[in-house]
Amino acid sequence: MQNSLWLKDVEIPTFSTLSNSLDCDVCIVGGGLSGIYTAYLLAKKGMKVVLLEAKPAFAIGTTGHSTGKLTPQHGVVYSKLLKYFSAEDVFTYYEANRNAIESALQVASEDSFERVDSYLYATTIPGKQTIEKELYAYNELNIPGVETTETELPFDVTSALKMEDTAQIHPTKFATHFLKLAIDNEAAVYTNSRVTKVEIDEKFVLTDNDSKVTFKKLVLCTHYPIESIKGLITTKLSIDRSYLLASETTELLKGQYLSVEESSRTIRTASIGGTPYFIYGGKSHIAGEVEDTQSYYESLKEEMVETFNLPEPPFLWSAQDPNTPDLVPYIGQISEDTPDLYIATGYRKWGLSNSLVAGEILSSLITHESHKATHLYSPTRDQFGKNFLRGLSTIGFVTANLAEGYLTRMEAPKCTHLGCKTRWNDGDETWDCPCHGSRFDKDGNVIEGPAVYPLKLKK
Ligand code: FES
Repeated sequence: MQNSLWLKDVEIPTFSTLSNSLDCDVCIVGGGLSGIYTAYLLAKKGMKVVLLEAKPAFAIGTTGHSTGKLTPQHGVVYSKLLKYFSAEDVFTYYEANRNAIESALQVASEDSFERVDSYLYATTIPGKQTIEKELYAYNELNIPGVETTETELPFDVTSALKMEDTAQIHPTKFATHFLKLAIDNEAAVYTNSRVTKVEIDEKFVLTDNDSKVTFKKLVLCTHYPIESIKGLITTKLSIDRSYLLASETTELLKGQYLSVEESSRTIRTASIGGTPYFIYGGKSHIAGEVEDTQSYYESLKEEMVETFNLPEPPFLWSAQDPNTPDLVPYIGQISEDTPDLYIATGYRKWGLSNSLVAGEILSSLITHESHKATHLYSPTRDQFGKNFLRGLSTIGFVTANLAEGYLTRMEAPKCTHLGCKTRWNDGDETWDCPCHGSRFDKDGNVIEGPAVYPLKLKK
């Protein structure tokens, strides 16, 4: 059922499968925007880079199933970040995202982005109070933002918070352009090359056909790490699934919108081949927790058609987003014991701008340059204790499902990551694992990790 608007009529280049052994300075695993942008920045600095993607093409996974919003307005985030970090660090989060976006837009292809304003909006009194709190944080931190009740939406809002001059992109076009620039700078890139083994001490990875890449540094940009090597990364993340739909429309909006109420809705438009499309999404839940995902699509569809007077959406897709306990992604050295192993994950729903931040931080760390946000994003930051309760709920979910899965879902195949029972997802026709978010197609092939081996399905 997955049918993303961003995969319509785009020329996604294909590459060969790695079939020989290679040596490199930096091996990057994962060909979404994070892996691509990191490869581009490192190759531009003269590093010998190998980029490996398990799927048949680059940027068709998480990147190709995103909303395409490229903004430092990451929902209601700044008031929440102030609970975990100093004002200086929270401003660094804003600044790192704002600067990374601006640097990338200087080089991006013109047909892959447009400048728009980002809005948070509320339709209730509690929502208005949430916006007031967020505006207060903006003012405290000197983040530019304007409160308004004027929007282009066909209903009244109780309040909206506008961040001016942000961007929205066509994510596959945007990423493919940076892939081309990485290749122009002599990065070696391979598709259909799934990494099945990581040897940190001996510094090599093996792909599923036993091809070997020997590296000095290894970067895991797989959205979710393929191994929980050290630092318990897998237990620090919980995974959300949300849904997106697109229909043809008559006019393009000047802004992109996100509601602040509990079950938030995302809204933007895009022109694809000259045709305007309206994109609507939301209804998130913990990945793998819900069996009947078709009903999520159906109720969103009804809401979209009625509220915005649009035809039935021919494009429906869903996205999975890992969350960290303190809302800031893990980008950097995975642990002090493994100085040559880097990771980028836990972007919440803000993977596009955080991918660009990841490229900047990782390329700076690897080339021994400084980046102001390194300590903030570090996977080794000591915030886990402080967020113990929230972390516990994530761990509790995983362990509960490991136990419960055997008792209640005997028919479902076992996930090849750590053995949880998967769940059949009717809407997308996939087997989804509730533990760490692996997804498999109906024939058992891996769509999303951390699992790397296919399911063993009973005939
Ligand atoms: Fe970890 Fe399935 S994703 S057990």
